[in-house]
Amino acid sequence: MNPPAAPVGPRPPGPSGPRLRVDVFTIFPPLVENYCAGSLLGRARHLGLLDLRIHDLRSAATDPRRSVDDTPFGGGAGMVLAPGPIFGAVELASPPRPLLLLAPGGRRLEQPVVEELVATGSSPSGGFSLLCGRYEGVDQRVSDHLVDGELSIGDYVLAGGEAAAIVVVEAVTRLLPGVMGNADSAAEESFGAGLLEYPQYTRPAEFRGWEVPEVLRTGDHGAIARWRRAMALRRTQDRRPDLLASRGGLSEEERHLVDDLADDLADGRTDGGPDGRTDGGPADDPADGDRVS
Ligand code: ADE
Repeated sequence: MNPPAAPVGPRPPGPSGPRLRVDVFTIFPPLVENYCAGSLLGRARHLGLLDLRIHDLRSAATDPRRSVDDTPFGGGAGMVLAPGPIFGAVELASPPRPLLLLAPGGRRLEQPVVEELVATGSSPSGGFSLLCGRYEGVDQRVSDHLVDGELSIGDYVLAGGEAAAIVVVEAVTRLLPGVMGNADSAAEESFGAGLLEYPQYTRPAEFRGWEVPEVLRTGDHGAIARWRRAMALRRTQDRRPDLLASRGGLSEEERHLVDDLADDLADGRTDGGPDGRTDGGPADDPADGDRVS
């Protein structure tokens, strides 16, 4: 089922005030605003769970053309964002700290970093702020004397920080209590426990000859939980062994679970169930076996 569309109209106050404030500084406010008005982010804002404030760096430019960039000292291609408008806009807004510059050389955004950013909601500043870099760079004095750190969304170079800011805001917002439909969903999926997510299926039970694994249709919550855990472990082992290594590898119990799953798949005993248990009748509703812990 599709989530309800973000309601339009003024945002009512949240039940206990906004949970997380995020300020974004950019020279393209509509770019960030348009994305963050819809879907999950729009809903979180409407519910008062996310207090997102987007600031135009040009608002603090002092020349008639509202310039924010200039040519680099020493020569070279491209333009550099000048310090004046950036310091001016930030000082005017006094945004929540940490203020992080989005740049490819920054600390890599990974799920633990996302969780740290969510936790800033309960710090005295009540959130964090993002500064979008642009063009060929940002004057070094911004890094040295204004921001608290730099954040990168990966080892590639974007034309600017706006897309990265959107990634950060979305990753953070979906962890805020009350934003996702089900309280378990954020924790259960990829990276929630340092593992990739188990495979998900919905109706129809058979599509073009490909069947949903039998175990998911049994209604046996214990068997489903074991299958999901085994699949998450196996997927992580196959695709991201580095994630397993960084949590200390597999425990004895986990190794058994994965071995049992491999045996069952090899024997064709189940279509993925780690122990082949199928007690309980077929479930009509795909959600029947959902949300086991
Ligand atoms: N700006 C340009 N490239 C970036 C990246 N990879 N991450 C964050 N901000 C960026």
